[in-house]
Amino acid sequence: MQNKKVYLNGEYLPLSEAKVSVLDRGFLFGDGVYEVIPAYFGKLFCFDAHLERLNKSLQAVRIDLNLSEAQWLEILQPLLIEGDAQYVYLQISRGVADKRDHAFPSDCTPTVFAMCSPITPFPKEIGVKAITLDDMRWELCNIKATTLLANILLRQQAVEKQCAEAILIKNGYATEGAASNVFAVINGVLVTPPKTDDILLGITREVVLKLAQENNMPVKEAVITLEALKTATEIWLTSSTREILPVTHLDDKPVGTGQVGKFWLTMQQYFQDYKKAA
Ligand SMILES: Cc1ncc(COP(=O)(O)O)c(C=O)c1O
Repeated sequence: MQNKKVYLNGEYLPLSEAKVSVLDRGFLFGDGVYEVIPAYFGKLFCFDAHLERLNKSLQAVRIDLNLSEAQWLEILQPLLIEGDAQYVYLQISRGVADKRDHAFPSDCTPTVFAMCSPITPFPKEIGVKAITLDDMRWELCNIKATTLLANILLRQQAVEKQCAEAILIKNGYATEGAASNVFAVINGVLVTPPKTDDILLGITREVVLKLAQENNMPVKEAVITLEALKTATEIWLTSSTREILPVTHLDDKPVGTGQVGKFWLTMQQYFQDYKKAA
């Protein structure tokens, strides 16, 4: 793995040779943004949506980098490796400044890094466990920022409780997972929290919403209270690397029957068909 080819600032290098300065603001402050873009059967999935979100993140944190879709493709395509399912990790930090100062200089050249890794297949049909935790992150969770300390601590707590994810609760409402969006089937309707700055607008979330609508599955974007989440017959987590992951136990209690539900089985099929056709 140390010798896999990665992209750094205009060059393709073996991973072991890709180095950035200790004065890079990504290293010092987590001053950067990123994307995780899956690729199926050699083709980047929902590439335009990922780029649109990347550009929004760049603008939100005032990093000045404007590449066209064609330019990004030219950079990322050579990184794709053998295999049916991979993901590209793309990170842009504000770059290297002369000294460590919270305020940023106007003339920083952004550091651009990208690498590709396989998506490890995961037996989703057996479901996973999740816990609920207090959402103690900042107010701009819509930005895909590399500053992920809160998310890391939350996910770690989940893992230490043998859970795959922490579902975050803010003021009594579910927001999202530490690194995923959340869906729940409540009273026969598939529900996901609405678009606000409290959540990252997941690309997988968008695909699931679109597939549900196109196939007449009852679906809505609406707030989910913790109480309602506890009554859900199904809970799913969505993300680019985990796709649609059914949660069969929440806080040590079974969700619905404690088995994957029929909404998930249906959506899983729609999603796999969509991936193949994309
Ligand atoms: C906090 C958070 N929410 C949601 C998602 C899901 O986004 P996507 O479906 O675009 O991968 C992620 C992905 O890593 C995430 O970190």
